[in-house]
Amino acid sequence: MTRSLSGRYTPLSLPPNIDYVRSSTLELCYQEIGRKKLTGSVAELGVYKGDFAKKINALFADRKFYLFDTFKGFNNADIALDQQNNYSTGAQNFSNTSIELVKSKMPHPDQCVFKKGFFPDTANDVTDLFCFVSIDTDLYKPVYEGLLFFYPKLVPGGYIFIHDFNNKFYKGAKEAVTNFCNEQGISYVPIADNWGTAIITK
Ligand SMILES: C[S@@+](CC[C@H](N)C(=O)[O-])C[C@H]1O[C@@H](n2cnc3c(N)ncnc32)[C@H](O)[C@@H]1O
Repeated sequence: MTRSLSGRYTPLSLPPNIDYVRSSTLELCYQEIGRKKLTGSVAELGVYKGDFAKKINALFADRKFYLFDTFKGFNNADIALDQQNNYSTGAQNFSNTSIELVKSKMPHPDQCVFKKGFFPDTANDVTDLFCFVSIDTDLYKPVYEGLLFFYPKLVPGGYIFIHDFNNKFYKGAKEAVTNFCNEQGISYVPIADNWGTAIITK
């Protein structure tokens, strides 16, 4: 990582991306995890075509990487809850993907464990601890369930990114984060990437 004349950090190890803030914050958290010599696996809940997942896999090359997704779009019960609460329409279609497509993009596919289907059901047999988790499922219920599942498994010093924290089209993500944090008595940091991300640490 280098510092440009404007004072902005330029990530060296990641390919250029339109979401500079999210990618660079991931890289800085990765460096902190290394500096603190944290143990644990990494995960993404809400993978779609694997665009953020490939960055996680590139950085955390020596960590087991869990990828949770239906790989056929939103669940109807999750959509219904969002609609009832006017969080979102749930109309976006994320079904045009597959494990094969995502796996083909991963720089270290041998580290990947694909968990296809409805989360949290797909997490029943996962007992790992985690040092980094990305939650990007858009809707209230899977974001909340993701925090319920991953926060107790986060090692001290680890990070959970929750995308869409300031997305006016998916208001359930912020609601899930704030409800969870209030219930647990924990805090988060919002960052100014595209659509907003909240970061929880321990
Ligand atoms: C916005 S996309 C993820 C985008 C991805 N992180 C990226 O960087 O391009 C949201 C994904 O969450 C998945 N998802 C939403 N609710 C889910 C649930 N309950 N179980 C599993 N996957 C879910 C959808 O299938 C969809 O692929």
